[in-house]
Amino acid sequence: MNDDPVMATNDDASECKRGAVELGYWQDSYIPFFVRQIEKRAPEINRGYYARVKGVERFIKLFLKKAGASSQIVNLGAGFDTLYWKLKDQGVYIANYIEIDFPTVTARKCYAIKRNKHLLERIHEQDGEVKLSATDLHAGNYHCMGADLRNISQVESKLQQAEVCFATPTLFIAECVLVYMENDCVNRLLAWIASKFKSALFVNYEMCNMNDTFGDVMLGNLRARGCNLAGISFCKSLETQKGRFLDNNWQGAKAWDMVQIYYDLPASERQRIEKIEFLDEQELLIQLFQHYCICVGWLGTEFADVNCNGD
Ligand SMILES: C[S@@+](CC[C@H](N)C(=O)[O-])C[C@H]1O[C@@H](n2cnc3c(N)ncnc32)[C@H](O)[C@@H]1O
Repeated sequence: MNDDPVMATNDDASECKRGAVELGYWQDSYIPFFVRQIEKRAPEINRGYYARVKGVERFIKLFLKKAGASSQIVNLGAGFDTLYWKLKDQGVYIANYIEIDFPTVTARKCYAIKRNKHLLERIHEQDGEVKLSATDLHAGNYHCMGADLRNISQVESKLQQAEVCFATPTLFIAECVLVYMENDCVNRLLAWIASKFKSALFVNYEMCNMNDTFGDVMLGNLRARGCNLAGISFCKSLETQKGRFLDNNWQGAKAWDMVQIYYDLPASERQRIEKIEFLDEQELLIQLFQHYCICVGWLGTEFADVNCNGD
């Protein structure tokens, strides 16, 4: 099994995010420390990333509002995500923040953190040591660790190293990750989380409505890069997305396509970013939005009323 093309999707996502940040879609002063390259992307791609980042952020805020400062975040397939640093800048305190990705990816992230004082400063504000190996980094409440999410015992042992607390409300984030894993592996991961954690919200961003011609073209493009989309059958519809939480003992699930998520973002923000790059016509953007979604699953009762409009 060659996982290189899957790991390379992190470079692509990070470059796209940096490109959109440079144009002013949103602010992230940390992404340039992880990504040097900027390639110009189509305006539709930039708007797609804007909706993805802001959509996921909305659920993070909702989780934090309900769960409070003693909560945990576990970012699965985190790549070069900068959420930890952005939350720190906003003064948001999290009891434990854990990132997992393939060791090859976390090794690059750990190396970038180690050699950049702005990144290091933020994770090392309290006294205490920074424990660093080639692929793992532990400092205060921040843990970046290499593991294969398809291997539950690896995941469990890494979470234990990060001193995860199964009784504490926990936010799981997976942004374009599960689609690269075989269905039985995702099922096992979700069922394992449901068996261990008492109170959790899982925010999953990925494809949906892949059963049409536009979906075929998207799949063709990804497969041409050598990516095995082993989990694509869960991306058929919003129902299949929700179904895998419910079938794996999660208490509830809701899903929205990105058309809904985008148009539920504050109008003033949408108007601002729509002025950044001119779009001749909206059709391609809407099609793109129809083929991505955010699906949330929850354990425990406190997250049952989460909604995409930020309430
Ligand atoms: C498209 S990238 C997204 C990165 C990040 N979540 C973001 O949105 O910027 C997918 C990430 O999932 C990781 N990934 C996919 N399958 C994985 C697995 N079985 N174990 C660990 N990481 C995995 C890849 O290495 C890659 O970093």
